[in-house]
Amino acid sequence: MSAIDLRGKLIAFEGLDACGKSTQERRLIRRLDEAGYDVVSTVEPGGTTIGDAARAIVLSKPGAYHAMIPFSELLLFMISRAQNTHEVIRPAMEAGKTVIVSRYRMSSEAYQGYGRGMDLDLIRTLNDHATENLHPDLTFFINVPAETAVRRKKSEHDRIEIEALAFHERVRHGFLELVAQDPHAVVIDGDRPPEQIEEDVARYLQL
Ligand code: TYD
Repeated sequence: MSAIDLRGKLIAFEGLDACGKSTQERRLIRRLDEAGYDVVSTVEPGGTTIGDAARAIVLSKPGAYHAMIPFSELLLFMISRAQNTHEVIRPAMEAGKTVIVSRYRMSSEAYQGYGRGMDLDLIRTLNDHATENLHPDLTFFINVPAETAVRRKKSEHDRIEIEALAFHERVRHGFLELVAQDPHAVVIDGDRPPEQIEEDVARYLQL
C-alpha cells in the first residue's frame, strides 16, 4: 500500500479529446495493482448498459441525430453519470476498491458549460443529483493545447470532436478555471513524454 490509503477513493481523469488520458489511466491502474489495490475503472459516457445506450446517441456521428439541442445533450451525459455512479462507482467505493473514472462531473461543466454556453448552476445542480453529491477525491486535468487535441485525433469524428478549434479552446479554458476553483483537482502538463506525466500522477498519490 502507498503512503496515502487509496482504498474506497475516487480518482477522475479529465482533459480535451486525445489528451493522453487513457494512456495515463492504464499506467495508473498498473501502478495501483502493483501497490496491492483492488482497482475498478470506468468511463463516461458509458460504463453501464443504460450509459452505453446514452453514449451511442450523444457521441454519434455528426448528422445522425442532427436535431439534438444542447439541453438534450447535457441530459444524456447526466443519464450516463447517474447510472454509472449508482451501479458501478458507489458500490465499488463502498467495497473498498480504488475507482478510476475517465471523465466525470467536470467534463459536463467544461464542455456543456464553457463549450456550449449552458448555465453552469444548472449543470452543477444536475451533477449533484446524478452523482448523489459525490465528488472525486482527486481530479487530474491533463492539459494540452487545443490545437494538439484537435490534431492528435485521427479516427472518425463524433458530434463533439467535430466542433471547431474555438470550441475546444473554450473547453480548455473552462477546465483550467474549474481546476483553479477545486481544491481536489490538479493540472498535469500533458505536453510531455508519457513517462514524465505518469511520474507526476504517481507523486500526487504518493505511489
Ligand atoms: P470519448 O470517446 O470517451 O473520448 P475521450 O474521453 O478519450 O476524449 O469522448 C467523450 C466525449 O464526450 C468527449 O468529446 C467529451 C464529451 N463529453 C461531454 O461533452 N460532456 C460530458 O459530460 C462527458 C462525460 C463527455
